[in-house]
Amino acid sequence: MSDTLSPEPKGAAAGDADEPAKPLRIGLAGLGTVGCGLIDLINRNGDLIARRAGRRFAVSAVSARNRHQRRDVDVSPYPWRDNPLDIADPADVDVVVELIGGADGPALAIARAALSRGLPLVTANKALIAHHGAELATLAESTGTSLHFEAGVAGGIPIVKTLKEGLAANRIDGFKGILNGTANFILTLMEETGSTFEAALAKAQEEGYAEADPSFDIDGVDAAHKTAILTSLAFGVAPDMGQLPVEGIRAVSHVDIRYARELGYRIKLLGLARMTEAGLDQRVQACLIPTDATLAKVGGVSNAIQIHGNFAGPTLVEGLGAGAGPTASAVAADLIDVARGQGGSTFSQPAKDFANVAMLAAEARRGAFYVRLRVTDRTGVMAQVATAMRDGEVSMERMIQGTPEADGSVHMIITTHETSEAQMQTVIDRFKALDTVLEEPCVLRIEHS
Ligand SMILES: NC(=O)c1ccc[n+]([C@@H]2O[C@H](COP(=O)([O-])OP(=O)(O)OC[C@H]3O[C@@H](n4cnc5c(N)ncnc54)[C@H](OP(=O)(O)O)[C@@H]3O)[C@@H](O)[C@H]2O)c1
Repeated sequence: MSDTLSPEPKGAAAGDADEPAKPLRIGLAGLGTVGCGLIDLINRNGDLIARRAGRRFAVSAVSARNRHQRRDVDVSPYPWRDNPLDIADPADVDVVVELIGGADGPALAIARAALSRGLPLVTANKALIAHHGAELATLAESTGTSLHFEAGVAGGIPIVKTLKEGLAANRIDGFKGILNGTANFILTLMEETGSTFEAALAKAQEEGYAEADPSFDIDGVDAAHKTAILTSLAFGVAPDMGQLPVEGIRAVSHVDIRYARELGYRIKLLGLARMTEAGLDQRVQACLIPTDATLAKVGGVSNAIQIHGNFAGPTLVEGLGAGAGPTASAVAADLIDVARGQGGSTFSQPAKDFANVAMLAAEARRGAFYVRLRVTDRTGVMAQVATAMRDGEVSMERMIQGTPEADGSVHMIITTHETSEAQMQTVIDRFKALDTVLEEPCVLRIEHS
């Protein structure tokens, strides 16, 4: 249903205050979930958008892989381009929207074509921005146009605008976020039902939350793309996937989720970055967080990001990180910026001013840890484990022992006080050398703050 109040916007875009403003001509490459969601949104909220943007949105060219594909919306009214690169033609369009996906291939070619011809680009493609954001921002600046990617990070949540606009005057001390709805759905289901990782993944696939190949979600790659972009916005550095340690959730078992709960924690896949005296600490990792922490309460497919600004203090944004509606909402918000003539620097500041910040070396990263060992159930093992920790100079916070299994093994769970990753690794190596330790230890970070 379309909203009804529809006075024609008048103004600057028409060049005459009495003339209706010229519509914003949109070239749309990609007609899948998000592309069709965007067309649906423009159709249903067109009047409201025109009032707020000062101009109507008019889709003036579309392209996808297969013209004859059945789609969620009728795309027959829009001029079709067989080659998606032909979308980037200033004669037909005022802005290019790239919703194909992938870091390279047609998405990158379209982005380069649009920006080099001075056309603003709006994209939901985090892989593209995480891998080529610096190059594309430089290109946009060189041709005097703009690059927008609100939908690329946490779907419908306006986190890019929060960092670029609302918190623009703050030094950002750090952020951490649940940035992948699929991984969060799996971890939430494992906690709520006690199901195994494999069963929870199968359920996520059945519900349409996980792809047939779920590796980008469960191996942390998707969260890493978003983390690299947020790090750039927050700390004024170029997005750099090469400097971002990434771990997913494959190694998290339902056993860890149960013991974490017993210890007062939930396990979440976090993307985080914080500035330390020794450098920028950024990573994607499955972490234990206290059950009463704000992010611990974010369940299912939701996303949430906590940011700390030096004047604003803590800010939390939460919402739906994916899906046709939320993602189209973010794409359309960027298009409204374009319609209003609001560009600004791609990453809060010009790409030429990206800071050269040292990354915190892996050995220097500090924190508390959760370790689960499967050990032979016999006397003296606890003493062996305690000795390995003492010799490695890692201080134990708690130790709990599970119920012995039928095969004569037992789980031993240890949490540590703050230590360095290097020291923790030394202790893990000592554990592995013990003949009573029966399998690869599970080691997870604990994030208290
Ligand atoms: N889905 C979400 O919830 C979501 C959330 C946030 C961000 N995003 C991002 O939004 C972008 C689009 O995602 P999506 O879920 O809409 O993807 P999708 O449903 O797979 O749609 C991709 C579209 O791109 C077209 N396409 C693929 N390869 C092409 C090629 N070589 N040449 C021309 N067109 C090609 C496809 O054409 P055909 O339809 O003809 O096959 C399809 O219309 C991605 O960057 C994704 O990461 C998605």
